[in-house]
Amino acid sequence: MSDKLDTNHNPSTHEHFQDVLARSLSNPSRRGVIRGGFGLAALSTLPFVSACGSSDGGSDAVALGFTPTEKSLLDNVVLPAGYSYTVLHATGDRLVSSIGAYSNKGTDTDDWSMRVGDHHDGMDLFFIGGNGKFTTQDTGRAVLAVNHESSADAHFFNLAGQTSNGVTGKKFSQFGDWDLGNRPAAEVLKEINHHGVSLAEVTRTGNAWRMVIDSPYNRRVTAQTPVRIAGPAAHLADIKALMATRFDRTGATARGTLNNCGHGITPWGTYLACEENWAAYFSMPKGSNAVDAKLAASRARYGVASTPLAATATTGSGQGWHTPDANDDRFARWNVSAVAATAADDFRNEPNTFGYNVEIDPLSNTQSVKRVAMGRFAHEAAVCGLPVAGKPLAFYMGCDSRNEYIYKFVSAANWDPADVGGGVSVGDKYLNEGKLYAAKFNADGTGAWLELSIANPLVRDYTGYAFANQGDVLVNARHAATALGATRMDRPEWGAVNPANGEIYFALTNNSNANRTPTKVDAVNPRAYADVDGKKGSGNPNGHILRFRETGGLSTASTCVWDIFLFGAEEDAGDANVSKLTAKNSFSSPDGLWFSKSTGICWIQTDDGAMTDETNCMLLAAIPGTVGDGGKVTVNNSMTVSGTVVTGTQETFVGAALGEAKLRRFLVAPKGAEVTGLTESPDGKTMFVCIQHPGENTPALGTASEFTFESQWPGNTGYGVTGRPRSATIVITRTDGGKIGV
Ligand code: FEO
Ligand code: CA
Ligand code: CA
Ligand code: CA
Repeated sequence: MSDKLDTNHNPSTHEHFQDVLARSLSNPSRRGVIRGGFGLAALSTLPFVSACGSSDGGSDAVALGFTPTEKSLLDNVVLPAGYSYTVLHATGDRLVSSIGAYSNKGTDTDDWSMRVGDHHDGMDLFFIGGNGKFTTQDTGRAVLAVNHESSADAHFFNLAGQTSNGVTGKKFSQFGDWDLGNRPAAEVLKEINHHGVSLAEVTRTGNAWRMVIDSPYNRRVTAQTPVRIAGPAAHLADIKALMATRFDRTGATARGTLNNCGHGITPWGTYLACEENWAAYFSMPKGSNAVDAKLAASRARYGVASTPLAATATTGSGQGWHTPDANDDRFARWNVSAVAATAADDFRNEPNTFGYNVEIDPLSNTQSVKRVAMGRFAHEAAVCGLPVAGKPLAFYMGCDSRNEYIYKFVSAANWDPADVGGGVSVGDKYLNEGKLYAAKFNADGTGAWLELSIANPLVRDYTGYAFANQGDVLVNARHAATALGATRMDRPEWGAVNPANGEIYFALTNNSNANRTPTKVDAVNPRAYADVDGKKGSGNPNGHILRFRETGGLSTASTCVWDIFLFGAEEDAGDANVSKLTAKNSFSSPDGLWFSKSTGICWIQTDDGAMTDETNCMLLAAIPGTVGDGGKVTVNNSMTVSGTVVTGTQETFVGAALGEAKLRRFLVAPKGAEVTGLTESPDGKTMFVCIQHPGENTPALGTASEFTFESQWPGNTGYGVTGRPRSATIVITRTDGGKIGV
């Protein structure tokens, strides 16, 4: 453990139990000493030990027990010898038998509101107890909650692609390539409804899981579903004023959730669907009215348009969802110009109702809730630190855009394990009142949490945006974090918490050369280089994984220490391969992260574009150590900037090299897919993995045929109707019935 990371910056003069525990877990010879020295009763009073008082959260990370999977360009899920998978559900599968089985040919005529959504992403299992209520025990019956990030592939859902001005064969995404024509209502409704979250009952026989059609638990939360707006009581009126639209002039409710990528699970058994790239669904049509300067300044920080498209524009943001009928609010709400005299009479405030964590109770029909106290940004995962009875809860959250921040929400209420199973009304206890912080990571390996508070002069007097009140601070959290000087990161994706020691991990997926050059790096984002074979340009094309430990192991800590667990790289990347990866464990663009409580393995999912010439995206297994188990390194940077080779060095702190013994590629995905959600049965013998957007690079259907799709998975393996690619949740088991990965 480096001096910089520990002794010099820990305000305590004695060694924390947390440090002793962490060191013991990385040194098996000391385990017996620790286990013998502290009884479970003592452990349960200490930070980072499971609130339920058992030792199941403190798993032993045993050796990886599988042969590494080679890189693959196959159109299938590739696993190590001795493992197999089945598909649990895929895009379009029906939740009820009253609608037709999915055609997978674009011929389905229903509105998609009772089908599994698209772009499977974050995911978790919620077990159903004997009384029909949530239980932490594995009962063999669960509701599987799956986020649907849903973006560019809606062209698969219509016979000949999407339609604009009556012309079919098109492929639109929300990222600025809508061609400004009028869209048919039926297509738009399908697109609105394939977003959001799927909730489906799944049951197990042995280790085989299947979805239960017609279960009373089956439902969808879509981009159209009414949701409640919640926040701190003292500021809720100010928050609601920013949410007022023609749908609810009081701002107490809004509609839907969009672009749900990462997720969270609360200690009381609810699901947090995080809203990521919601900003580009809205339109400011040609000839419409601009919004006022204050709202425009807010929108500018989130990438939402505030002035009308130029008369000469041929493409714009959104997917034309506002075009079917200006008098039907299901469509009109996506036109966010100043249509009426006041904001409460149009939908200019509609973008203010997105960018939150949405709390859903998978086991009841209670209205879902947008938790404004946790801030508004491009939310990735919301991961809860290990809960400790009688202490506040901390949720760690990334904002996934280039140069955005990592945040922490600390509840005002202290955790009470008796709240398990209480649904979103318990969420009202923990997720409305609390403090929101943004992270600042220092060059010496320490970090600090900066509170987003209007009482801070840096926020109150910020010249970039005139905050009216604390509600405005929460709704415009990106502005407030900038005002405080938070550290600009290389796209914070998912976080995860190591159940063995409470350390928090964040995937920083990549960044581009506009932000990272050898003269624009810092200790926590230290690399600037060219992709070794030029597929993805320069900057930080392969990403890295940060981890940090709160001072004293406390959710309420105002400081932490950090290092970089792993740097993504191709194995032949020279100086950029800081973590000394090999052909058996090289990876790029870490995106999802998830820890197994059963085995202690840190699972790393990728969403890559830099190595995809030689391998599809993947899932790797790592045996984590602890913050500070490596040391200080100097990174040598070199890349071409404006035609000139620029070099530089940057000091940083890197975790101990893992080698092939502790880091191995486990799964490689089908063509064009990323690997997203991941969870496990509590016994560690069944792993659920989401495969998102196979065939993403398929051209518009106007230029492709059924036989030229980039991918035909999972139909090509016998699941459903063969033809178009579909996102899916798969279930992985070992043929010998053992635990996954060990
Ligand atoms: Fe949806 Fe940030 O990945
Ligand atoms: Ca290469
Ligand atoms: Ca992702
Ligand atoms: Ca490359």
